[in-house]
Amino acid sequence: MPAHPWWQTAVVAQLYPRSFADSNGDGIGDLEGIRRHLDHLEWLGVDAIWLSPFFRSPMADFGYDVADFCDVDPLFGTLADFDALVADAHQRGIKVLIDWVPNHTSDQHEWFVGSRSSRQNPKRDWYIWRDPAPGGGPPNNWIAAFVETSAWTLDETTGQYYLHLFLPEQPDLNWRNPEVVEAMHDTLRFWLDRGVDGFRMDVIHGIVKRADLADVDGGLAQMVDDRRYDPPEVHARLREIRALLDNYPGDRVSVGEVYILSTAKVATYYGDGDELHLAFNFPPLYAPWEAAKWRTRIERVQQELDPLGAWPTWVLSNHDNPRHRTRYGSEARARAAAVLLLTLRGTAFVYQGEELGLEDAVVPPDRVVDPGGRDGCRGPIPWTAAAPHGWHGDETWLPFPPDAATRSAETMVADPSSITHLYRRLLAYRRRSPALQLGELRLLDGPEGVLAYERSTPNERVMVLVNFMPSSVTVDAVSGDSWRAARIAISSAGRREGDAFDGTLAPDEAVILEPDA
Ligand code: NOJ
Ligand code: CA
Repeated sequence: MPAHPWWQTAVVAQLYPRSFADSNGDGIGDLEGIRRHLDHLEWLGVDAIWLSPFFRSPMADFGYDVADFCDVDPLFGTLADFDALVADAHQRGIKVLIDWVPNHTSDQHEWFVGSRSSRQNPKRDWYIWRDPAPGGGPPNNWIAAFVETSAWTLDETTGQYYLHLFLPEQPDLNWRNPEVVEAMHDTLRFWLDRGVDGFRMDVIHGIVKRADLADVDGGLAQMVDDRRYDPPEVHARLREIRALLDNYPGDRVSVGEVYILSTAKVATYYGDGDELHLAFNFPPLYAPWEAAKWRTRIERVQQELDPLGAWPTWVLSNHDNPRHRTRYGSEARARAAAVLLLTLRGTAFVYQGEELGLEDAVVPPDRVVDPGGRDGCRGPIPWTAAAPHGWHGDETWLPFPPDAATRSAETMVADPSSITHLYRRLLAYRRRSPALQLGELRLLDGPEGVLAYERSTPNERVMVLVNFMPSSVTVDAVSGDSWRAARIAISSAGRREGDAFDGTLAPDEAVILEPDA
């Protein structure tokens, strides 16, 4: 097998610290809680964890509003807890990625406190300040995410507006100022020196705004509107960040949250192998449960990433979107989707709890806390069957997902037929299959409603069939080849593993087939 960096073959578990596990009984997850549950992740077989923000923060955006990039919020613990977590994870062979939020800070960050204090403050230019429009009002028509009002907030003291693509509590940094670039590089060095293996980089494609700050038609709120950014400048900043990472020993990785719904555009942020190592590709996350739609998404990756040598990524769920179990509407589909996620060519990201088949929590109006409407997918992980499911407080910060007792890690791990065991089998299979880890992917033609592809290296060949139909199908041949002699290595429904494939797929069933030796 050719030498390759660890992250190419990795399965990364995204952990949302507030909701993963609580060690001190305040109803909010923390770093020590994560450390105490590394057993589960090791048992599952993940290669790495990515921690959503745990930095000092007033929590207007639950940690994506950072008040100090180089410290742990007391709610989550201490730097010593972080060091202990990294040491323990590394000892188990699990890499640790953290979330880096370079586009903005909290309005409580000392940089912004200085910046807003006067027009003469040395930090004034670290953020994006503008005079009101000639007739008064915000300098342009840009809209902030979540609040969907102007992306500019007037600061009464100094009479100027500051830009925030997200909440008013999240002022955007001015990446055209070299001092900001240097200060943010220092935050990377701080964590690299502490031993992190890489970063997930928040809204990385948007860190430099277009120089004219001109109106855009419609003033669209969505982060997908990339007309507000200055791509050449972003690429230049990314090359510097890449050089910084590459200067460290070991393969430190960058995974960009390039929130643009065009795979071709996402591809440009890999640069010429000198920008991001990996970038999230979100169109599959938004794909409905339809074979044809998935086929198109895969073709896009083949056409738009592969020729550039840009290594793909796959993700079905995260802390910003309804869980795929909820979106697809059944456990059978969530299981089949797991087979898809873990057999496509690229680095895979698993969001905490998807291996338990969790649905979104149902959050009553009086418990809604997120201004962006994303509470459902952030429900706490139920660890034990008995309430309070391994948590201690009277009330967790958000309600548990439905069926917390029967979906608890304890219950699922004890049941070999559970979706949790399916994930574990898939991860183990992937780990010992060069074809799944690094092999070519060739789309095949199967019956209507069935997605079929082959993964291969010169020495190994496996085929994946995913039945997206609510009915059983019979697969006589795929691209003219009969796979009747093949063996079922893994079935999402857990049926007939090890047996010869008889050509039938249950509704919403996915299988990995191996040629019969
Ligand atoms: C993307 C993150 O995933 C999301 O949770 C956050 O609210 C925004 N970026 C702003 O940081
Ligand atoms: Ca806690």
